[in-house]
Amino acid sequence: MGAMDCLFRDMRDAVCVVTGANSGIGMATAEALSRQDARVLMVCRDRKRGESAAEAIAVQTGRTPELHIADFARLEDVRTVAASIAASVGRVDVLVNNAGLITPTRTITEDGNELTFQVNHLSHFLLTNLLLDKMRLSRDGRVVTVSSDAHFRAFTGINFDDLTFSKDYDGFTAYAHSKLANIMFCYELARRGEAAGITSNAVHPGLVGTNFGMNEGGVVRLFYRLARPFILSAEKGARTVVYCSAAAELGGISGGYFYKMRPKPSSPVSQDEGQWNRLWEESVRLTDMTA
Ligand SMILES: NC(=O)c1ccc[n+]([C@@H]2O[C@H](COP(=O)([O-])OP(=O)(O)OC[C@H]3O[C@@H](n4cnc5c(N)ncnc54)[C@H](OP(=O)(O)O)[C@@H]3O)[C@@H](O)[C@H]2O)c1
Repeated sequence: MGAMDCLFRDMRDAVCVVTGANSGIGMATAEALSRQDARVLMVCRDRKRGESAAEAIAVQTGRTPELHIADFARLEDVRTVAASIAASVGRVDVLVNNAGLITPTRTITEDGNELTFQVNHLSHFLLTNLLLDKMRLSRDGRVVTVSSDAHFRAFTGINFDDLTFSKDYDGFTAYAHSKLANIMFCYELARRGEAAGITSNAVHPGLVGTNFGMNEGGVVRLFYRLARPFILSAEKGARTVVYCSAAAELGGISGGYFYKMRPKPSSPVSQDEGQWNRLWEESVRLTDMTA
């Protein structure tokens, strides 16, 4: 048994792609997987931040992760990075959809989507779909999507009538909605990926002390300051992500929402299968996936 109290499958040279891997939970995940001798591909938006994280991980683990650059606010970047990953690996064993943000101001990307929805959900939807062929070549391909219990706040479901939040934008609501989209995407992928032997699970990492929300100004910063006694380290926050990626006992387990290395129920509305499928179809359209 390891420090995490579970047995890991053999991760030697397992190809693991981690988005948002230069900071916080993503970096701790990349480090933990490198420690298990996996071949880690870090997807980061900023080359310098990516390089310094890769160097730090190499010092800690003796394995240097590979760096791929993409700004998830640009769908074209996601397509380019998916192609460069696909060209450099024979298969993908683990994809950790982790990059995420919360922002107080409503921003529309050059692709015409609301920024939070695009970075947190649409870009991961696109990246995952573009890597599925490589994941099918894995014996135990796993997609792990980092969501949040914040999704409980999006209790009315996906905002299909106004996905860009043109009315009544607030950062928390848009964030909660994007995290609900993460879970519904995870469940629909579990349903669709079954035939190909690919599993899909989502994670709530807990309240974790990272850079998350720190460019936010007042409210999020104050919240984290008040919550400090309850806040987990990035390494602890990454545990359930690493568990879903590598635990031997999770082979073939799919469509779960995990916290503290255990399944837990996600919100009632997240169980609405009609919305999973509708979100999938909308996401295909918004990412122009057939183009
Ligand atoms: N911290 C918590 O308490 C908590 C709780 C529940 C869920 N989560 C989830 O955990 C995940 C990781 O967050 P974290 O807490 O580790 O925060 P973090 O330290 O801020 O890390 C977020 C990562 O996402 C990347 N990212 C942000 N915008 C991006 C973009 N446009 N393109 C590409 N990458 C982008 C960041 O890159 P840069 O360094 O370049 O900004 C960074 O690598 C998020 O999905 C978040 O929703 C966190």
